[in-house]
Amino acid sequence: MLQRTLVKDAHDAAESRNEILLQGWVRTRRDSKKFSFIELNDGSYLKGMQVIVNDTLPDYAALMHKSSTGASVSVRGKLVPSQGAGQKWEVVAEEYAVLGESDASYPLQKKGHSLEFLREIAHLRPRTNLFGAVFRVRSRLAYAIHQFFQDRSFVYVHTPIVTASDCEGAGELFRVSTLDPANPPRNEKGAIDYSQDFFGKQAYLTVSGQLEGETFACALSNIYTFGPTFRAENSNTSRHAAEFWMVEPEAAFLDLTGDMQLAEDFVKYLIRDAKQHCAADLEFFSKFVDKELMQRLDFVLERPFQRCSYTEAIEIIEKSGKKWEHPVKWGDNLQSEHERFLAEEHFKCPVTVYNYPRTLKPFYMKLNEDGKTVRAMDLLVPGIGEIIGGSQREENLDILLENMRAHNLSEKDYWWYVDLRRYGSVPHAGFGLGFERMLMFVTGVANIRDVIPFARTPGSAEF
Ligand code: 4AD
Ligand code: MG
Repeated sequence: MLQRTLVKDAHDAAESRNEILLQGWVRTRRDSKKFSFIELNDGSYLKGMQVIVNDTLPDYAALMHKSSTGASVSVRGKLVPSQGAGQKWEVVAEEYAVLGESDASYPLQKKGHSLEFLREIAHLRPRTNLFGAVFRVRSRLAYAIHQFFQDRSFVYVHTPIVTASDCEGAGELFRVSTLDPANPPRNEKGAIDYSQDFFGKQAYLTVSGQLEGETFACALSNIYTFGPTFRAENSNTSRHAAEFWMVEPEAAFLDLTGDMQLAEDFVKYLIRDAKQHCAADLEFFSKFVDKELMQRLDFVLERPFQRCSYTEAIEIIEKSGKKWEHPVKWGDNLQSEHERFLAEEHFKCPVTVYNYPRTLKPFYMKLNEDGKTVRAMDLLVPGIGEIIGGSQREENLDILLENMRAHNLSEKDYWWYVDLRRYGSVPHAGFGLGFERMLMFVTGVANIRDVIPFARTPGSAEF
């Protein structure tokens, strides 16, 4: 039996073929006197394949009537050099079947739907050029992430999705429970008795695999996680999702400087990989989504990232003379407007801000000698702001315990994490890259909802 060929491979063919089988969906059909042109797209490539169906084919009129936009078809024919401009090959059909019809209610009839409209039909939007391209790049970069770390002998660790700890301490947790919300068991004080819940204690969807990742780094040296993470932050922005994917490497015997270098090498590697393996898709983004995309990516690849301490960053922001929506002084969190100013206007390049005030950061970060700042780092990129957050971890038992007390965390709950500082403690560091934010950076797509197959955001979990 004749094997199906993907459109991508048909485009790459070195010579004509007497027989080829293509299967996919009709994007457009144009009829002329003696034949019809079908653009068949199967998602393997940005472009479809032009198929010519001659009116001499049995049932020609009925078949073409059924071949409306969105219909699925199977075509056996000859692959021949194209007469028209714009493509090297086309297929002349010898056998043509409509597998699934599609009528005028198919929502993707016209080109140029708004992104907002396409979000409402997230089950069909992968059939558009834009979303086909986005999700091919997403798949490729997921692969490249594994390649980057595997090539460097990092071990892939599957940290749990359900956890009892709040790594970031921000309280943005989704509870996991099997208790009856209408009638939960209660203790003597009248509070909900979670000891009767499924896990015998309160449990949540993870906000980060870091804490569990650290345990493996303190055994296997270099590890990474790559999986879904969940945050119940009620921020309706173009950069926040309630469910997103994070890549978290963790390395023993690594300090903050090494961590920043690893992050820079990693980001550059992913950009280079996308340029090499998704050239047609990136070209599409730079034509239709963001005209400056290629220029920006090349610029990022060519230069070392800038590095600047939090204290320097505050000075730069204060001296800029700009009017801020949120004015900041030392000790305040940098807001999106400041992060973007640093990357876009001041440094005009990705910048890693490090050594943040300890009061702004979670309990696990390593305290500097000044007693005021911790070895944290955030990588800020033009157009998005923070795409990476990381740190060197506190490996000193006493300081860690003191930090935990300051953050109202009980040693009892984190006994296993504290044990890492009791038995063979080592300097170690790691970071988390928001996968969707990286995709936004590589594709130029401005909203996080458009780089994840089915976005989960406040008030929205359709599909
Ligand atoms: O800076 P964050 O909160 O760092 C951590 O979770 C650390 N435990 C990572 C580590 O050191 N292993 O998150 C890391 C990154 C951010 O820089 C951002 O790119 C992304 O995760 N991120 C989000 N992406 C989409 N939607 C959200 N709500 C996000 N919150 C964080
Ligand atoms: Mg962060």
